[in-house]
Amino acid sequence: MSNIIEIKSLTYHYPLEGGGSVKALDDLSLQIAEGEYLALIGPNGSGKSTLARHLNALLLPGEGDVLVDGLSTSREEYRYEIRRYVGMVFQNPDNQIVATTVEEDVAFGLENLALPPDVIRRRVAEALEMVGLTSFSQHAPHLLSGGQKQRLAIAGVFAMQPRCLVLDEPTAMLDPRGRREVLETVKRLNRSEKITIVHITHFMEETFDADRIIIMDKGRVILEGQPPDIFGGEVDLESLGLEMPSIPKVAQILRAGGLKIPPGVLDVKQLVNYLC
Ligand SMILES: Nc1ncnc2c1ncn2[C@@H]1O[C@H](COP(=O)(O)OP(=O)(O)O)[C@@H](O)[C@H]1O
Ligand SMILES: [Mg+2]
Repeated sequence: MSNIIEIKSLTYHYPLEGGGSVKALDDLSLQIAEGEYLALIGPNGSGKSTLARHLNALLLPGEGDVLVDGLSTSREEYRYEIRRYVGMVFQNPDNQIVATTVEEDVAFGLENLALPPDVIRRRVAEALEMVGLTSFSQHAPHLLSGGQKQRLAIAGVFAMQPRCLVLDEPTAMLDPRGRREVLETVKRLNRSEKITIVHITHFMEETFDADRIIIMDKGRVILEGQPPDIFGGEVDLESLGLEMPSIPKVAQILRAGGLKIPPGVLDVKQLVNYLC
């Protein structure tokens, strides 16, 4: 599989008022394959959002390089193409609403591309269908639930036909139902539409279906693996300031008590199978 994104020795400092700077990314290298579902976790301040903002040239490398579909984000002439290629969804759903109806909100980005009206109508309809908001097309966005607002934000980006979607803690402000809705939508974008996903989250359970999990700390990638590798019990997540997800944690406690539970247990069904 070819790489859609290549990050090479990326270092980034935020300048501070009154001089000095904060190092947010430290010689970080990472490759993301076309069609991959990547989950990115790490304690607060580890550089996740800074990395996300480099993926569509909202921030530009201090040192190193970020290539999107082979194009360097540092080159001004590629910026438009890179922003079409990589869509972003942020944490706060209210900040992403731009219009007074759901339908107009999704159409907003497309209208800026000067597409013919029938193409816009079709893409808006497809995007609303994809996120399950078709019956809300005439509703006012600010009256939607948090989960619906985030799905609307995803629809607006999806309508632009990106190849990669970067979501920076899209469920952090949502209730459990909203979180489930958004997670299902993200998985569908990956599985049915083959869109490459970079999903930043602090809910460990949301990473279980990812192809690969990356753990960041202090601006670096400190560990990567598939979900059973990360949550199998060998990695001390709590010492990294991360929470151990509940089922792997129960498995760990039972193991410590002498029961033979193999590593990599992620769900209740598996756990019960080993116990009975
Ligand atoms: N706008 C900013 N100005 C100065 N420092 C910042 C800014 N944004 C983030 N930082 C610092 O950069 C580091 C990485 O932050 P961030 O990428 O937001 O981490 P995360 O998303 O993992 O919580 C932290 O030390 C943070 O304090
Ligand atoms: Mg962040």
